[in-house]
Amino acid sequence: MPQETPDESIIRRRLAEADQEQVLRFWDGLSEGGRRQLLAQLARIDFGLLAELIDEHITNPKPVELPPDLEPADFIALPTTAAEHRRRRRMRGLGEELLAAGKVAALVVAGGQGTRLNWPKPKGTYPIGPMGKRTLFEVFADGILAARRACGAPVPWYIMTSEATDRRTRDFFRERDFLGLPPEDVTFFVQGMMPAVDLEGKLILEAPDKLARNPNGHGGTLPALAREGILADMRDRGIEHISYFQVDNPLVPPLDPVFIGYHADARSDMSSKMVRKRDAAEKIGVFCTSGGRLHVIEYSDPPGKLAREKDGDDLRFEAGSIAIHILSRAFVERLTESERFALPFHPAEKKIACTDEDGNTVKPAEANGIKFEMFVFDALPQASNPVVLEIDRAREFSPVKNAEGEDSPATARRDMLRLDAARLEEAGVDVPRDADGQVTFKVQISPLAARTPEELKSLLARRGITELTDDLYLGPEEA
Ligand code: UTP
Repeated sequence: MPQETPDESIIRRRLAEADQEQVLRFWDGLSEGGRRQLLAQLARIDFGLLAELIDEHITNPKPVELPPDLEPADFIALPTTAAEHRRRRRMRGLGEELLAAGKVAALVVAGGQGTRLNWPKPKGTYPIGPMGKRTLFEVFADGILAARRACGAPVPWYIMTSEATDRRTRDFFRERDFLGLPPEDVTFFVQGMMPAVDLEGKLILEAPDKLARNPNGHGGTLPALAREGILADMRDRGIEHISYFQVDNPLVPPLDPVFIGYHADARSDMSSKMVRKRDAAEKIGVFCTSGGRLHVIEYSDPPGKLAREKDGDDLRFEAGSIAIHILSRAFVERLTESERFALPFHPAEKKIACTDEDGNTVKPAEANGIKFEMFVFDALPQASNPVVLEIDRAREFSPVKNAEGEDSPATARRDMLRLDAARLEEAGVDVPRDADGQVTFKVQISPLAARTPEELKSLLARRGITELTDDLYLGPEEA
């Protein structure tokens, strides 16, 4: 259905009241279509909220104040004793039961612009496998398909996109036959957008007929789940737990029965995985408590002093958040049904493409504006019985954020390779290494070829592989 063009006079009045009329400075030269587009974008702006954000973060900014009673959060540490190992096994059993009962869905947030990676397509389409095989989306699809086969139940996969990634993400899945998954179990939904402002709080034009806008942050997942009918779809399918992960971490197990088990056993509203921070400077948020509630303090928020506080040899605030959660569907429903529910917006100074006075789009060399984003972990303080579960970083966390250096495709590939080489070694294969301990050949093992150590052993035996003498790719076709 064609969208009705918003009334120009109403928009002009709102712009005048908000002192934002500069966005119409190219109006006279715009085509009909250009005018319609700009009006439609302006009509979607919540000017009341925008005024509050500009006041709070630009006109009258206050230093970030952390609650005085902030304490490091408790977490379930990696098991060391026999009893702890037994408990993990019990939790795995519970998680497997829930998967087999069809009560768990996977959800990846893939609406981000991925500006740091500098890849011209949605980040999920990046070929991340160490042997150049499998994109991020395919790595997750393989994990989901392997879990579906293991539990014998359908596991729906929800993919959150944004205006920045939606069309190309859907095309990618369609062109590749939904990556081997039944199309009816793959559902895309689109998150909301936020307008960006310059350092004086003025709306920015990216082109004469287009505002500079950005997806509203991974916290936008919660309102989008409700608005786009995804919660209703989950309810119809009997889904109770949502396994949430980001598109940038190729090591994430999309459906981890151990984590699902801990979450369900505790009757948790929202659970989180954590790693101990590498050092004070590592750019991940930390789990804290205040007023009896769990919080994540984002890495950009804590004053350096807090990040550096020590408890003996360890960092006092060491529990780092890696953006892997399980949310109970009922919790998301409760939050989003409440009139008062709103996650806060966090400002971030960024380089934002904008028009020059001739109407040409230019990319600034320095940060010229502010993007506002919601963070999903800001729902944690509202969660009852939140579980924080420590995991082995080497097995589950290696994010692709930057084009080069730390947290880049190079480090993720290195970590994927290490993990698969270790799996081969555990299965009894001789893996040659150089003087620095680096694996000499490339290895990539799809979970569809072998998910468990036992499956890998039997595959290697079938193939007669006892020593790595060349690059080795064990792909889905091995199954
Ligand atoms: P990041 O915060 O790392 O942002 O997203 P990004 O967009 O991927 O990368 P930069 O900052 O532009 O370089 C973490 C995860 O949250 C998702 C991303 O797709 C990624 O999976 N995300 C982020 C959204 O889905 N929507 C958003 O609005 C922001």
